[in-house]
Amino acid sequence: MSDPVSFEKNTIIVIFGASGDLAKKKTFPALFGLFREGYLDPSTKIIGYARSKITNDELYDKIEPNLKKRHGKEDDQKVKDFFGMINYISGQYDTDEGFVQLNNEIETFEKSRNISTPHRLFYLALPPSVFLPVAQQLKKLVYAKDGITRIIVEKPFGHDLDSARKLQADLAPLFKEEEIFRIDHYLGKELVKNLIPLRFGNKFLNSSWNKNSIQNIQISFKEPFGTEGRGGYFDSIGIVRDVMQNHLLQILTLLTMDRPISFNSEDIRDEKVKVLKSLAPISNDDILLGQYGKSIDGTKPSYLDDETVKPNSKCVTFAALTFHINNDRWDGVPIIMRAGKALDAGKVEIRVQYKNIPTGMFNDMPNNELVIRVQPNPAVYLKFNAKTPGLSDTTSITDLDLTYEDRYRDFWIPEAYEALIRDALLGDHSNFVRDDELDISWKLFTPLLNYIESPETPAPSVYPYGSRGPEGLSEYLKKNGFDYNGTETYSWPITSPHSS
Ligand code: BG6
Repeated sequence: MSDPVSFEKNTIIVIFGASGDLAKKKTFPALFGLFREGYLDPSTKIIGYARSKITNDELYDKIEPNLKKRHGKEDDQKVKDFFGMINYISGQYDTDEGFVQLNNEIETFEKSRNISTPHRLFYLALPPSVFLPVAQQLKKLVYAKDGITRIIVEKPFGHDLDSARKLQADLAPLFKEEEIFRIDHYLGKELVKNLIPLRFGNKFLNSSWNKNSIQNIQISFKEPFGTEGRGGYFDSIGIVRDVMQNHLLQILTLLTMDRPISFNSEDIRDEKVKVLKSLAPISNDDILLGQYGKSIDGTKPSYLDDETVKPNSKCVTFAALTFHINNDRWDGVPIIMRAGKALDAGKVEIRVQYKNIPTGMFNDMPNNELVIRVQPNPAVYLKFNAKTPGLSDTTSITDLDLTYEDRYRDFWIPEAYEALIRDALLGDHSNFVRDDELDISWKLFTPLLNYIESPETPAPSVYPYGSRGPEGLSEYLKKNGFDYNGTETYSWPITSPHSS
C-alpha cells in the first residue's frame, strides 16, 4: 500500500440517493477505494439515505458488485469492514421525519466518540427535483453548528443561465460557498489533474504554450455507445449540456489559463475565471451538429429508435464547436471542442498542434503534436520528427511517449471520484467548480443552446452509429486550423523497413 496519510477521525459521511445508480456505481465504490488504500479512516461513519425501503443488507448487495479489489483475499476482509461502517436510513426528502432520525443517529455517534468539533460531509447524489428540499432540510435539521459541514453536489447545476442562477440564489442563503463542493468528475481524472504540473512545471512546454508556437488545440470526447435506453434523460439535455458545458470546458480552462500565483484553490480558480471571461461568444455559424442514425450494417439502432426519446427528436448527440480566446496569449488560435455518442471509438483526448516549420528547410515536416490522452490507457506523448536511423538522410515522425501503464506500473491511480471525495474531505476546493465559473460557463453556452433548441434551427445531420461523426467533420477541422497529417493515431514500435 502506498503512502497512506493519517486521516481525520470520526467523520460522518451521508450519501443521499444511496439506493440510486450514481451512489451504487460511483460514490460507495469511491469510498471503498479510499478505505482500501488507507485514505479513509476506519472510524468514519457512513450513512446511506434514500426513499427506498431497503435493509442494510439489501444496500450492501447493490453496492458489492461495484467494489474493486486490488489486493486479493486481503480485500475480502476490507469489504466486510467497509460494510461495517455503513448504515442505511429510509426517509423522505421533503419532510422532517427522516432528517430528525438522521440527526439523532449522527449525534449519538458523535457523543459516543466524544467529538467536540463534528465533521460532516453530505453527498447529494440526487436528481435536480429533490436537490433543494434536501439542502433545506439539511440546513434546518442536520447542520453541524459548531463544526464542519460540507456538501458535495452533482451536475446538472441548472439547465441554462437563468435556472443555474436560481439554483445558486436558493442555495446561497443555506450554505456558504466554502461549504459547497460542485463535482465535475473530469477534474478528478489523473490526466486532467496533471495539466497544471505538465504546463507550468516544464519550461519547454510553458514557453511554447501560446499563439507564437501553437496552431490549434482539439479537445475530443468520443463514446462508442449511444443512449441505450437512457434517452429519456438525455433527450432534454443533449451532448452540449451533458459533457461540453462542464467536463470539456473544464479541460479547456485548465489548458489555457495563465499560471496561478500559488497552489491555493482560490488562486487556481481565479485564473480559470479570467480565461473563461476572455472566451469570445460561440458563433452559431461555426458549429457542426449531428444525431446518430443506424449503423451502416444496420445492427446498431439509431437515436430515434430509443423508445425513451421523443419521436422526431432533434436532440444533438454530436457537436463540434470552435472557441477563440481574446487575450494576448491565445489571439488567433482556434480551440475545437468535439463530442459525440455512438462514434467509432471511446476516448477522451487533448491534441495540441504546433505550427509548421517556417519556409525553408524542413518546412514540409509534419507538425509537432502534444497529445494528452485522458482515457482509456492514459498517456502523454509528443509527436516529433527525427532522422530515420541508419545510412539514410530521411526523417520520420516518432514520439516521446509517457504511457502510464508502462511507466507507472505499480501505481494506484485513483478513480476520479476517489480523488475528488478525498479532496472534499480535506476541504480542498481546487478541483471543484466555483459559483462564478459556473455562471460564466452558462453565459457562454446558453445562447448556443437556445439556438440549437429553437424550432427554426434545422435538424442535426444524421451520422451512422459507429462512424467518426457527421459528414463535413474533416473540412470543419481543417477550416478551423487543424492540419491532418495522416498521423492521428500512432503505433509503437516503428519497424525498420530493413527488418526481415
Ligand atoms: C457524464 C455524462 O457526466 O459523463 C455521460 O452524463 C457520460 O453521458 C459520462 O457518459 C462520461 O464520463 P466518463 O468518466 O465515463 O468519461
